[in-house]
Amino acid sequence: MRSTVAHLGLLSAVVAASSTCPPDYPTKPYPTDVCQTLDKQYPETIFYPGSKTYKDENENYWSPTTYSNPACVFVPSNADQVAGAVKVLANSDIKFAVRGGGHMPIRGYANTDGGVLIAFTKMDQIELSEDKSSVSVGPGQKWGSVYNYLELHGLIALGGRVGLVGVPGLLLGGGISFYSNQHGFASDNVVAFEVVLASGKIVTASAEKHSDLFWALKGGGNSFGIVTRFDLATFNSPKVCAGVLQIPSTQRDEFLSTVASFGQEGSKDAKAAVIPSIFMLRLLDATVYTSALFYDGEKCDQPALSNFTALPTLASTYGPTTLAKYVAGTDALIPPGTRQHFQVVSSFATAEALEAVHDIFVSGVKDELWDILDLQASVAFQPITKQFVEAGVKKGGNPQGVDPSKAPYFWMVQNFSWSNEKYDQRIVDVCASITAKINKKLDATGQKAQYQYLNDAGEGQSVFQNYGDGNLAKLKEIRAKYDPARLFTDSLNGGWKVEDA
Ligand SMILES: Cc1cc2nc3c(=O)[nH]c(=O)nc-3n(C[C@H](O)[C@H](O)[C@H](O)COP(=O)(O)OP(=O)(O)OC[C@H]3O[C@@H](n4cnc5c(N)ncnc54)[C@H](O)[C@@H]3O)c2cc1C
Ligand SMILES: *[C@@H]1O[C@H](CO)[C@@H](O)[C@H](O)[C@H]1NC(C)=O
Ligand SMILES: *[C@@H]1O[C@H](CO)[C@@H](O)[C@H](O)[C@H]1NC(C)=O
Repeated sequence: MRSTVAHLGLLSAVVAASSTCPPDYPTKPYPTDVCQTLDKQYPETIFYPGSKTYKDENENYWSPTTYSNPACVFVPSNADQVAGAVKVLANSDIKFAVRGGGHMPIRGYANTDGGVLIAFTKMDQIELSEDKSSVSVGPGQKWGSVYNYLELHGLIALGGRVGLVGVPGLLLGGGISFYSNQHGFASDNVVAFEVVLASGKIVTASAEKHSDLFWALKGGGNSFGIVTRFDLATFNSPKVCAGVLQIPSTQRDEFLSTVASFGQEGSKDAKAAVIPSIFMLRLLDATVYTSALFYDGEKCDQPALSNFTALPTLASTYGPTTLAKYVAGTDALIPPGTRQHFQVVSSFATAEALEAVHDIFVSGVKDELWDILDLQASVAFQPITKQFVEAGVKKGGNPQGVDPSKAPYFWMVQNFSWSNEKYDQRIVDVCASITAKINKKLDATGQKAQYQYLNDAGEGQSVFQNYGDGNLAKLKEIRAKYDPARLFTDSLNGGWKVEDA
């Protein structure tokens, strides 16, 4: 009798073991199980292939190179739903992605093949604090709407120079704003982040609470948590001067020396900002120089910008406006829908560096890509001053750890835009070879700078490895503290991960 009971006990243990762990059968839920669980938990938040919302969300990106095939799209309305989803996802093996403004043009960085796409479309709140010193913004917002809202109060917050760019991606990578020479990275002006941690807990990170996490989120990307609200400092800036100059290609030398002297001299007036670019348009078989000019104030005739306004121009829209109006006007010129690729290059602010970048870029594009009839290729030179870097340090510092002693810099981004998928790989390869040639030349002439800006980087470029002050090690410690099981490192698709650096 006794032995029979023991025998049956053993048998049921074997059966139990084999039913919880049969060979070759996944012990964790499939993607569709996760979608179904979330659908039950939060009705009307899950969308499957074939539905209109699924298609709209999967194509709600700036560059079609990022459209993918998620198993389902989750569209939460609030942080509690995001937290609930994180708990479900943490119990599965499946990958997921989060999409803010969808402007990072790298496939798999904010979308997923086969996993769950979390789209923040409905988390689009914008709310000014009672004393108007800060504005709370949801991760579904884009900068243009934030500026429109703040304009009614004569206020601005630091964010993108293009209105269609998303709030979360830009801030988690730093963020270069027209106001950065006064106030640092856009992220240096975040007062608090509301974050869903890997445990599903919702915390607020600020200078007072979870200050290590607060610091990490100012440029550490998506390795730490999902941000469900950004509280941003506001500044008075009711009237500005802004617009875009177009300068003929005959002005190479004058244009480049003007850009270099702005980097050294003009930018000492922290209210002035420019985005000089080389713009190559295959359709018109033309190269033009352009520059956005910006001044935080009503008086447009400014010594800091006068070398630019003195250049011979094909056209100019520079004049009195507001940040919101300027941004709305330029957004019309860069609509979503064409394929896009970026890479970043970084130098000291000298004419020598600019000439090297200019010549290698222009001849590389002409020699290798000029048969692509709708190609647009550009390089934007972003002058980064000592004041910019120091402003961030004064506000508590950020993980970028850019060295102020070697400033000013130019952080440059090459952009390529085209429409036929068959050119994708060729453009990526040519861009990489142009970058390699530029870096080689800058290195040989002592003009290469270290920092590589996350938000302008292309896939495969080293970002965190070039953060200063030993900050990568600190980022890794903070990652281990807040996400010990590596959920956001291993299961949250794409982006640069501090653990991979
Ligand atoms: C036309 C154009 C203009 C630009 N202008 C500027 C500029 O003026 N200044 C500047 O600094 N940069 C600029 N950028 C670069 C821009 O900052 C980056 O592309 C940025 O990643 C875009 O943010 P997003 O929310 O739109 O990105 P998304 O593609 O939605 O996301 C980017 C990354 O952020 C992560 N992420 C998104 N939301 C969250 C969240 N809530 N929590 C955690 N992680 C999240 C995603 O995982 C992804 O890896 C520009 C880009 C373009 C295409
Ligand atoms: C304007 O150009 C002159 C001549 O090259 C230069 O000396 C000066 O520093 C420039 N000024 C600014 C503000 O860039
Ligand atoms: C190129 O990329 C930079 C940085 O990401 C952005 O500021 C700029 O608007 C882009 N230019 C075009 C023409 O898309």
